[in-house]
Amino acid sequence: MVFKPANSIQDLQYFGEFGGVNPSISDSSTYTFLSAKTMFDTFEGNADGCYLYSRHSSPSNLYLGEALAAMEGTETANISASGMGAITSVILQLCSASDHIVSSRTIYGGTYAFLKNFAPRFNIETTFVDITKLDVVEAAITKNTKVLYCESVSNPLLEVADIKGLAAIAKRHDLKLVVDNTFSPLSISPATLGADVVIHSLTKFINGSSDTVGGVVCGTQEFINDLRNVNDGASMLLGSTMDSLRAASVLKNLRTLHIRMQQHSFNAAFLAKKFKDDGLKTVYPGLKSHPSHELFKSMMNKKYGFGGMLTIDVGALEKANELMELMQNRNLGYLAVSLGFYKTLFSAPGSSTSSEIPEDEQKEMGLSNGLIRFSIGLDADIDRTYQLVRVCMKELNILKPKK
Ligand SMILES: Cc1ncc(COP(=O)(O)O)c(C=O)c1O
Repeated sequence: MVFKPANSIQDLQYFGEFGGVNPSISDSSTYTFLSAKTMFDTFEGNADGCYLYSRHSSPSNLYLGEALAAMEGTETANISASGMGAITSVILQLCSASDHIVSSRTIYGGTYAFLKNFAPRFNIETTFVDITKLDVVEAAITKNTKVLYCESVSNPLLEVADIKGLAAIAKRHDLKLVVDNTFSPLSISPATLGADVVIHSLTKFINGSSDTVGGVVCGTQEFINDLRNVNDGASMLLGSTMDSLRAASVLKNLRTLHIRMQQHSFNAAFLAKKFKDDGLKTVYPGLKSHPSHELFKSMMNKKYGFGGMLTIDVGALEKANELMELMQNRNLGYLAVSLGFYKTLFSAPGSSTSSEIPEDEQKEMGLSNGLIRFSIGLDADIDRTYQLVRVCMKELNILKPKK
């Protein structure tokens, strides 16, 4: 049967405590027990339906978690206070001292910094590879490797991971395949392609209103129980817990994700094609010129398109900065990091979200100074937007007037 993630969200039926159409928000950090025995059982992890303390779990976080698990097709999920809260707890749950990770080299700068600079403090080492080359990935695996880590569509270079191929490697070597699906919610469903753990920064498309940070880990019941274990669970002990009020508001935004993703993708595909036709160096997985266009097509849930992210390279950082400032002045979007907002957001990753990656490594992976990353907004008239961007580009000589 074809997996339809938006149907899974649509089909959720929650009755609020007082019959409300939204689940009631749980406004408590701690919970009463009618008997001391039940409290003991709950600490032992044996009392289904009983809440202990909101760092462990709360009704509002569970509602949101179950909705995201339905979207990703996993048994369950655990909500965290940020995407990094999700990523760091997964890595620290799966790896102990002297373990090794094979990771894509093009990943979000914060994840890169964690793996490169922080995890080694615990003697957890990472080899960064070109994730699009399965033979290189497999060759990097050692006897200590525990995790294969990638983003389905990478930040910021928009490289596409062959999740089925990576899952086969992970299986052969008894590794966990962990996929950050932040750039491609609904479009790609990594768990159905063989990923063991799927992570999102909810901060981006899923929440979609740039008013909070948040994260989720989707996986098996066993793994999520491990994360929440009061004795050695990374989520429970590191304490990156989302507040119930926020969880309730993210859940409400999730319900329109399918409509928003269609519009983000439509607008991004429109602009990518125009930019490319104008002769700009444009990267978008929906363009035939993207090296992994066919791979993306083979993995995608077609309805949601190739996502809202695209990059152009204008040659130099100064030019990129001038263009971004001008576009912001003309109200075409905001010069800001992050993604998934109703307005277009643009930034130069080399000097912002990927600045944790040393310059020589940026160069090696193809991250140039003049690269601008766009998170394309929900603009109702994208042709109007294009025409206005074009004016900016002409003023700055990025687009030469056609002879
Ligand atoms: C792909 C990706 N994963 C994870 C993160 C981290 O998420 P958060 O900022 O919510 O901690 C980000 C961005 O910040 C991201 O772009």
